[in-house]
Amino acid sequence: MANVAVVGAQWGDEGKGKIVDWLSERAEVVVRFQGGHNAGHTLVIDGVTYKCRALPSGVVRKGKLSIIGNGVVLDPWALMEELRELEALGVKLTPESLQIAENTPLILPVHSNLDQAREKALGNAKIGTTGRGIGPAYEDKVGRRAIRAGDLAEPALLPEKVDKLLLHHNALLRGFGQPEVKRDDVVKQLLDIAPKITPYVGVVWRTLDQARKAGKRILYEGAQGMLLDIDHGTYPYVTSSNTVAGQAAAGSGQGPGAINYVLGISKAYTTRVGSGPFPTELHDDIGKGIGERGREFGTVTGRPRRCGWFDAVLVRQSAKVNGLHGIALTKMDVLDGLDELKVCVGYTLDGESLDYFPASADKQARVVPIYETMEGWKDSTRGARSWADLPATAVKYVRRIEELIETPVALLSTSPERMDTILVHDPFAD
Ligand code: GDP
Ligand code: IMO
Ligand code: MG
Repeated sequence: MANVAVVGAQWGDEGKGKIVDWLSERAEVVVRFQGGHNAGHTLVIDGVTYKCRALPSGVVRKGKLSIIGNGVVLDPWALMEELRELEALGVKLTPESLQIAENTPLILPVHSNLDQAREKALGNAKIGTTGRGIGPAYEDKVGRRAIRAGDLAEPALLPEKVDKLLLHHNALLRGFGQPEVKRDDVVKQLLDIAPKITPYVGVVWRTLDQARKAGKRILYEGAQGMLLDIDHGTYPYVTSSNTVAGQAAAGSGQGPGAINYVLGISKAYTTRVGSGPFPTELHDDIGKGIGERGREFGTVTGRPRRCGWFDAVLVRQSAKVNGLHGIALTKMDVLDGLDELKVCVGYTLDGESLDYFPASADKQARVVPIYETMEGWKDSTRGARSWADLPATAVKYVRRIEELIETPVALLSTSPERMDTILVHDPFAD
């Protein structure tokens, strides 16, 4: 029985939502295993756009079980808003179709406030976070003072837990010259939201174990991308969780053997939102054109995404660190009409050649890409649903990428629409 993990292979926004939605037809359970509502996963189904933030991207299909795993940090107010938005589009989730792990840490208003205050204090050195409180919430998790989803069902114990949390936060707030937060206010906020969240809270590790035993197929959905991973990304310009496939197990309460196939999602070029190094970034009209055709604006914050050529060194590294079995190459159509395309095949650093992306932020900022130039294609690939519909030069581009990243292409995406997808190899078939 094949269970599949889907992860971003670049700096996020690769089209994970579209691919997870497409693949979820073949699965019974879809689990988010890290990140929070810093993620924005877009689904376009028959012209209707759905945005998943903390919820997994299988929610639109009826009869699927959606799960928020313990590796996620969850803002309960934002979740309620997300559920309301989905309901307005005709998608209603119930405790039968959505389960939240009892050990999922919560994002509280103190976290988003601290995130934003710290970014402001950093000035030009800011990370460019989404301001959603992701970093501070993960800090409290590893600092062993988080309030977790299951705590909402134990109201009598909340004041003591909130005291421990505020001991830390009020010290920080004093340092930032901001007013302290009162324990009773936080407890009240939590008690108000508790009845809305508690019905969804359950024992996720056991639900997943039972699903596996019953032969159900599970799809694990990552957020962000490998280059935003707290260990393997462009530190410190990263998010605060492990975004790599290894986290799918720990972030949902399963063993590593639960995942049979790891699918990396990569655009046919590169984008990044927020600060940090980006070797193949384009500052010219070609980059601008890609951004316009690809509608490269952040799903969560609306910020323009930085655009550049495909970086095969980065995606190959991502393939190794994630243990990718295959890749879904998205947004091929955005490259339509370009005379030539460049692909980064290596770097030089201080005159020496380099076949990997070093961990040092200083070196990451100084590597110079070595490009291979490829012929572009004039015909449109937009909406193509089979290999036969692709221009020969587009096929050549895909084949060269496969070679460079040492990973086969399992899926190709040619528009935001669910069905504009080419299946080359079914990840669930392995
Ligand atoms: P995610 O965070 O990885 O789920 O990606 P986002 O949803 O944040 O960003 C991807 C954007 O590209 C969304 O607006 C998608 O609708 C869109 N998209 C996905 N696949 C394709 C594709 O093949 N072609 C085009 N033109 N757009 C796509
Ligand atoms: P999806 O799942 C792209 C980026 C932010 C910032 C850095 C840290 O939609 O691909 P954070 O708020 O997490 O502390 O911000 O990470 N970032 C993303 N970039 N896609 C995402 O998610 C992202 N989630 C966070 O822009 O640079
Ligand atoms: Mg996104």
